[in-house]
Amino acid sequence: MSDCSADEDPRAALAGAKLLLGITGSIAAVKAPGILTSLLRGGAQVEVTLTRGATRFVTATGLAALAGRPVRRFWEEGASPHLELAKWADLVLVAPASADFMGKAASGLGDELLGSILLATRSPVLFFPAMETLIYQHRLVQDNVRRLRETGYRVFEPARGRLASGEEGLGRLPEPGEITAIAGEVLARRRDLAGVGVLVGAGPTREHLDPVRFISSPATGKMGYALAAAAAGRGAKVVLVSGPTLLEPPKGVEVRRVTSAVQMRQAMGAAWPEARVVLMAAAVADFRPAQVAGHKIKKKDAALTVSLLPNPDILAELAGTDRSARVVVGFAAETGPAEAEARRKLREKGLDLVVANDVTEPGAGFEVDTNRVSIISVDRREDLPMLPKAEVAELVLDRVVALLRAK
Ligand code: C5P
Repeated sequence: MSDCSADEDPRAALAGAKLLLGITGSIAAVKAPGILTSLLRGGAQVEVTLTRGATRFVTATGLAALAGRPVRRFWEEGASPHLELAKWADLVLVAPASADFMGKAASGLGDELLGSILLATRSPVLFFPAMETLIYQHRLVQDNVRRLRETGYRVFEPARGRLASGEEGLGRLPEPGEITAIAGEVLARRRDLAGVGVLVGAGPTREHLDPVRFISSPATGKMGYALAAAAAGRGAKVVLVSGPTLLEPPKGVEVRRVTSAVQMRQAMGAAWPEARVVLMAAAVADFRPAQVAGHKIKKKDAALTVSLLPNPDILAELAGTDRSARVVVGFAAETGPAEAEARRKLREKGLDLVVANDVTEPGAGFEVDTNRVSIISVDRREDLPMLPKAEVAELVLDRVVALLRAK
């Protein structure tokens, strides 16, 4: 799946890794022994915990026999192991993740061992939801998925196929081998940007006409924030230059807030010398009003004519002057087939990669949590499926890591 794994099997990262497998009350819990076996075969050390709901589908005895150690419980000889396990685990897998458990986790509830481990751990947490399509698509479940993602957990889309009810649809747990491969990839990526300076531009800019009115775009900053969070998770030193957004700054990221394109240019320019990777996901307004009124412009019957000046192209300016030993990535939001435009930008702005998407496609572009993008370089084009923005961010960073290694 990733370039960094092209020459190394991502599963290699599993050898010796400390994994916590949390199993929750979905019928797909019957596959949990298969997941456990697959992780153990990869060479991981695995601790297992079951929620009460999960014990209806699998037994602690069977899992303990496979793991060669007891399944972990909340009160073991009077003490709870949640802090110890939270610290011990390199990675926490919730597989399968039931709707009920995701609701609890999204609310910060820790009435079961797994819930309190999630509250206490700072290691990556991966959720693999499995349930009937109707349940998965329920608004409250989707709200919980969003909250979990905003918290920094990785929630993978379930697979399509035959469900326990006999219906075909979205909601299947991926096969054990796939879950193992994903765990290996996440572990392999963990430190692959350690200490690398990464500069991210995100969000819209606002070009004020007067103190209360501005020209802008519907960009929310989600893609840029996902990139910043993913890079920080891989050990990078991240500076995030952000236009106005309502998003929480990701953990471990230095945020520099700006409003206009001119301010963004200044902030990006100041951070540029320290950056080996530049990811420009900001939706910079192309024009700004030639005059900015110092007071609110009054309504009149006559038409108002506003004259606009072109804004600087921040990326073209910075990449044009000095990009030696840097990897520079631009984003292209198009309203139609994107490749020709993306290639022009690659050439004219002097970029290593362009991540292009058609913002008119449902589920892609502005104001949504998912995106379908193509990653375009001089000699390659790769079309990714519709994915959560956090996953798109990881795959873009995989390409960046491969390019950095080649520089
Ligand atoms: O707007 P356009 O499609 O040209 O954007 C392509 C890339 O250039 C994006 O990465 C965007 O953030 C960047 N850009 C910029 N300054 C502008 C316009 C776009 O840095 N004024």
